[in-house]
Amino acid sequence: MELVIFGGPGGGAIVAESVRAAGGADRVRGFLNDMLPPGTRIAGVPVLGPFASWRTHEDAAFIAPLHKPKEMEERARRVAALAIPASRWARVVDPRAAVSPDAAIGPGVYVGPFAVVDPGVAIGAHVALWPGAQLGHDTRVADFAFVGRNTVVSGRCEIGLGAYLGAGAAVRDSCRIGAFAVVGLGAAVQRDVPDLAVAIGNPARILSRQENAQLS
Ligand SMILES: CC(C)(COP(=O)(O)OP(=O)(O)OC[C@H]1O[C@@H](n2cnc3c(N)ncnc32)[C@H](O)[C@@H]1OP(=O)(O)O)[C@@H](O)C(=O)NCCC(=O)NCCS
Repeated sequence: MELVIFGGPGGGAIVAESVRAAGGADRVRGFLNDMLPPGTRIAGVPVLGPFASWRTHEDAAFIAPLHKPKEMEERARRVAALAIPASRWARVVDPRAAVSPDAAIGPGVYVGPFAVVDPGVAIGAHVALWPGAQLGHDTRVADFAFVGRNTVVSGRCEIGLGAYLGAGAAVRDSCRIGAFAVVGLGAAVQRDVPDLAVAIGNPARILSRQENAQLS
C-alpha cells in the first residue's frame, strides 16, 4: 500500500528515506502539508494537499512525524483531531533497525535506521524513534512520544504521552519521563522527570515547566 506522510522537510523526508531504503521508492505517494502549495517537491516527492485532504487518499496508509520540543501537546492534538481510523496508520520500520520480535509496536510508529528495540518493549501509537535511538528491555513508550537520535533509554523505563527526548540523551533504568516532558539533548536522566517539565544536563535538572500546556 502507498504511504502518505503528514509534514515534509525534516521528519517527513527522513521517513521517506527509510521507505526508499526498504526498496519502496514508489511507495511514497507524497506529503500532506498545510504550509506548502500542492506540487512543491520535497526530496523528490510532491506535496499533495493540506492535512484536511487525507480523505481523498482512500487507498493509502498514513504516518505523521511532526515532533518539536515544547510543542508536542499541540501537535498530538492536531493529529488526533484528524480522526483517522487506527487501521489507516502505517508502521514504518527502517530495514537497518533491530527490532525484537518480542516488542509491540502501535499504529503510526516510525523506527529509524540503526534504532534498537529490545524484547518486552511496548510502543504506543504515533511514536517516532529517530536514527540510532535505543529502547531497553521492558520499556513502555506512550502515544506520540519522540525519541531522538542516538538517545539511550535503559530497561524498564516509562516514557509518557507525547514526551520528547532530545538527541543523545540517556535515561537510567526504571525512570519515568512524564507526559509532554522534554529531555534536552545530551541530558543524563537519573530520576523521574515530572509531566511537562524541561530537563537538561548531567545529572539532569529541571530547567523549566511548560506552563501553557493543558495536560488533560
Ligand atoms: C531543552 C531545550 C528544549 C531547551 O530549549 P529552550 O527552552 O529554548 O532553552 P534555551 O535554549 O533558552 O536555554 C536555556 C538555558 O539552558 C541551557 N541549555 C539548553 N538546552 C541545554 C541542553 N540540552 N544541555 C545543557 N544546557 C542546555 C542553555 O545553554 C541556556 O543556558 P544559559 O541560560 O546559561 O544561557 C533544547 O535546548 C533542546 O535540547 N532541544 C532538543 C533538540 C534536539 O535534540 N534536537 C534533535 C532531535 S533528534
